Amino acid sequence: MSTQHILCDVADGVMTIRLNRPEKKNALNQAMYTAMADALRNADQDSTVRAILLTGTDDCFCSGNDIQDFLEMPPAGEDAPVLRFMRALAEARKPVVAAVNGPAVGVGTTLLFHVDLAYAGESARFHMPFVNIGICPEFASSYLLPQMIGHAHAAELVMLAEPFSAARALECKLINAVLPDAQVYAHARAKAVKLAQQPPNALRTTKMLLKRWNAPRVAEAIMFEAQHFMPMLGGPEAREALTAFMQKRKPDFSKFA
Ligand code: COA
Repeated sequence: MSTQHILCDVADGVMTIRLNRPEKKNALNQAMYTAMADALRNADQDSTVRAILLTGTDDCFCSGNDIQDFLEMPPAGEDAPVLRFMRALAEARKPVVAAVNGPAVGVGTTLLFHVDLAYAGESARFHMPFVNIGICPEFASSYLLPQMIGHAHAAELVMLAEPFSAARALECKLINAVLPDAQVYAHARAKAVKLAQQPPNALRTTKMLLKRWNAPRVAEAIMFEAQHFMPMLGGPEAREALTAFMQKRKPDFSKFA
């Protein structure tokens, strides 16, 4: 199940899924989405796994989708690895805990809407820069974010699309607690181990009940957003933004109507 960039192991009833591509700030390519989707589906089937811990490397959680991949191999169709990953996390039957250090960008932020417990370091930085790169929100964030914080605050986060602090993420109820950076992983792991010691059927049923009423709308939102962001990725605004990122220059949107 482990690949070079996604490391998985199981100990104390906890499957740890670690993003491990520090040279690209843990940007997610198609192989990584596939490995994470498979790990999450396997965790559901494996009776030795009773909780899942999702984390990155010491100074970075995830810089979002790999921008080179966005340019060269944009996701297409319902079975695109990114959509398989989104469905696997949204539908995970066992509890998922996230430990976030450093940047959590794009899907690195929006996946947190789908975990059960999330802990972040004081220097974590969250960002949903979809509009900045010529696309639109994904992973049901356009549905869940206004539901959680109201339209005005949601619009601020995804239309002005500026990075925000761990304190703001806590205020938005996106995470459970802010901790000193060095304590995040141990704290999150301790919570995952504690979940793994709970009666498993009661825990799974409770998670199912918490998610049940929103689940159909979340599934619909994931696909509806994808119908918009997939074609947008090939459009001129995204091409300009993504090429500018790769060329390490500021994008120029002045010519677009
Ligand atoms: N896709 C591909 N490569 C990425 C990447 C991404 N999403 N994010 C970072 N990288 C690469 C950089 O191109 C750079 O590669 P290089 O060393 O070959 O030049 C390397 O990772 C380090 O990134 P850098 O930007 O120098 O690190 P930083 O600490 O200054 O900033 C981020 C980190 C995450 C804030 C910044 O890289 C960033 O904003 N990344 C893009 C995020 C994004 O827009 N994601 C898509 C969301 S939908």
